[in-house]
Amino acid sequence: MKNNIPEVSLLKFIKHSLEILKNPLPFHNRNFEERGDVFKLNVGFNSKIYFSRDAGLAQYVLQKNQRNYVKSKIQTVDLVKYVGEGLLTSEGDKWKKQRKMMQPAFHKKQLQNLLTGMQDTIISEFSKVETNKTIDLFPLLNDLAFQTVVKSLFTQAANSKDMERLQYITEANQRMLVKELRQPYLGWWFKIGGALKKHLKLSEEARTILKGIVAERKASGHRFDDLLDMLLETKYDDGKGMSETQLIDEILIIFTAGHETTSNALTFTFQLLAKHPEWQDKIYDEWSELGGDDTDLMTRVSTSKICQQVLEESMRLYPPAYFIDRVNVEADRFNDMVFEPGCNLLFSVYEIHRHPKLWTNPESFFPERFADGGRQFSAQYFPFGAGPRKCIGNNFAMFEMIIAVTELVKNYKIQPKFDEIDITPLITLKPKNAFLRLEKRN
Ligand code: HEM
Repeated sequence: MKNNIPEVSLLKFIKHSLEILKNPLPFHNRNFEERGDVFKLNVGFNSKIYFSRDAGLAQYVLQKNQRNYVKSKIQTVDLVKYVGEGLLTSEGDKWKKQRKMMQPAFHKKQLQNLLTGMQDTIISEFSKVETNKTIDLFPLLNDLAFQTVVKSLFTQAANSKDMERLQYITEANQRMLVKELRQPYLGWWFKIGGALKKHLKLSEEARTILKGIVAERKASGHRFDDLLDMLLETKYDDGKGMSETQLIDEILIIFTAGHETTSNALTFTFQLLAKHPEWQDKIYDEWSELGGDDTDLMTRVSTSKICQQVLEESMRLYPPAYFIDRVNVEADRFNDMVFEPGCNLLFSVYEIHRHPKLWTNPESFFPERFADGGRQFSAQYFPFGAGPRKCIGNNFAMFEMIIAVTELVKNYKIQPKFDEIDITPLITLKPKNAFLRLEKRN
């Protein structure tokens, strides 16, 4: 069998390595345009990475033949040392068992209990915004997303110093992981220079704080109907609950998976709204027509269709999880492509979401395209992934973002104080220079 996937040479990779380090997306785009929807990049040491913007291949790998695919070592090894082995980072039977057990805690009905807490947290964070001056909204939205996850886990939040420390540790370890992945040649230095040890120690500190919170909850004898209660009460098929270590791993993973992705998506959404003020008015009108603050929150999050379309279009243009990776266990083939065992496949969600053959006016902000519920795009729209490993927190994130967008838009008019929407592609697609100005609505 012939592997007829075009190759980008090692020389070309080295020639463009500085550009790739800064922002790899234009390099990927040029190669897709020149070579087609799948190409392999020779990165030296006998290693090749397969880049794909083929939506059919993505569906095949993530869904149809998912049994033949595992995650790459970035999630299953590199991230594990900081957050342990939980839903995001485990594989095989262990993952299956955890997913089955945790799924009910993230069902829409279950999330209903968390909505009022989410809204309180969001209102409290937005009360800190400064009006009539240029502000960078990202740090505020970052705190908002972290606090929302924390309060959803621990309704009776443990003391705020501990929470600040947990946020600091989660973010510091994420930054460290970015360094390790971007500069693997400095691995020896991170080890002997002490950076690695320092960050592993931080992880231990986070675990100690969380153990204290869990012990306090168990001793209190109270139920709060929050995510922690759900995770403490849920059982495996044999009737046993999670071990303490497993529970702490899952909490660390929820912090990591659920906070930066959401704050990125919210920031991009507010930037797009700033550039397209007519959509702010549409969201405002929808909120008001639905009964304003008198509507119960479950109705609001399930029926705010305009707001939902705006968020979907925002994640089409700026998907926070802009890459999804997999490695095939056995050899595989798709159409005329052949994959030897162990190929590193990187799906560019960013490119799939802007593919000119898949989308009309792909570069334009056009939320109406999702007006029919977006089902017609299910084979080419993957902001939360696809298949059995699809984001478990997708409803949580959508509910949180709908509340956040309506809360800001109903109170303020958002104006852009940036030229173009600028991105920093790290582990997630992050916004850069998200400068905005908020004016109170009359
Ligand atoms: C806009 C916000 C979010 C985006 C764009 C997002 C995106 C994703 C994507 C693409 C995956 C699949 C990764 C893969 O297949 O390799 C994923 C998995 C996951 N996400 Fe999210 N996510 C978001 C919010 C959240 C929230 C709020 C939580 C928790 C409260 C969460 C928890 C998880 C977990 C635990 C997994 C692993 C699921 C599994 O492997 O079974 N995410 N997310």
